[in-house]
Amino acid sequence: MRASPSGTPRHIFGDEEESIVILSREVELAIQSLKMEVKSDNFFHKEGTRMKGISAYFMVLAVLSVTIGMTWGIQMSASHNHILSPAHAHLNLIGWVTMSIFAFYYHLVPGAQDGILPKLHLTVAVLGLITIVPGIVMAIRESGETLAKAGSMLTLLSMLLFLAVVLKSVRARA
Ligand code: HEM
Ligand code: HEM
Repeated sequence: MRASPSGTPRHIFGDEEESIVILSREVELAIQSLKMEVKSDNFFHKEGTRMKGISAYFMVLAVLSVTIGMTWGIQMSASHNHILSPAHAHLNLIGWVTMSIFAFYYHLVPGAQDGILPKLHLTVAVLGLITIVPGIVMAIRESGETLAKAGSMLTLLSMLLFLAVVLKSVRARA
């Protein structure tokens, strides 16, 4: 409590008891509203923090990709052969970075997992990843570009499907 220059306590409300009562009421109200917020959907996702469905699939795919990607990176460093570095890079960038963004989007945006579109998105994204990475390897080794082209198109298509999912969610919330 601050003191006035004269040394006597200074209160916003003349009476000390009254200010204590008002203060305790305010604290009570703040606690009540915090409790309500914790219970509501705004504080945590309504299904909890555990990833489910499409988001869980994307997350597992992301972690698998980076596990393989890191092992590959270590192998490249150890062998002093960086020739396949673009394939390693895209396994990590599409597999780990992009897929985990998808996972968190589906996890955090209510209703985003609904319908057939997210399932189609997952399928095309998986097909894209498992064709683009060996496709890049083949292209670097000059043993054909068809797989890389197919993988690129599928990866692009998966992003267009995700665009549709995002637009659907944005419109639904507006
Ligand atoms: C244990 C983990 C990792 C190791 C040991 C590793 C190792 C390597 C090596 C040796 C190269 C070749 C560098 C060169 O030739 O200049 C490389 C390239 C690259 N890595 Fe990794 N990497 C790891 C994880 C990651 C992760 C998690 C990502 C992405 C999220 C990533 C993205 C890239 C990219 C983009 C390149 C290409 C860089 C360029 O061409 O300039 N790496 N990595
Ligand atoms: C359809 C999907 C994609 C295609 C076809 C594609 C294609 C390419 C190509 C042709 C290169 C040049 C490689 C070289 O010069 O050796 C490249 C480099 C790069 N891309 Fe992609 N990319 C795609 C998706 C992405 C995504 C989603 C990211 C990031 C999240 C990304 C990040 C990079 C980076 C950092 C490099 C430079 C590193 C490197 O040379 O390996 N790309 N990409």
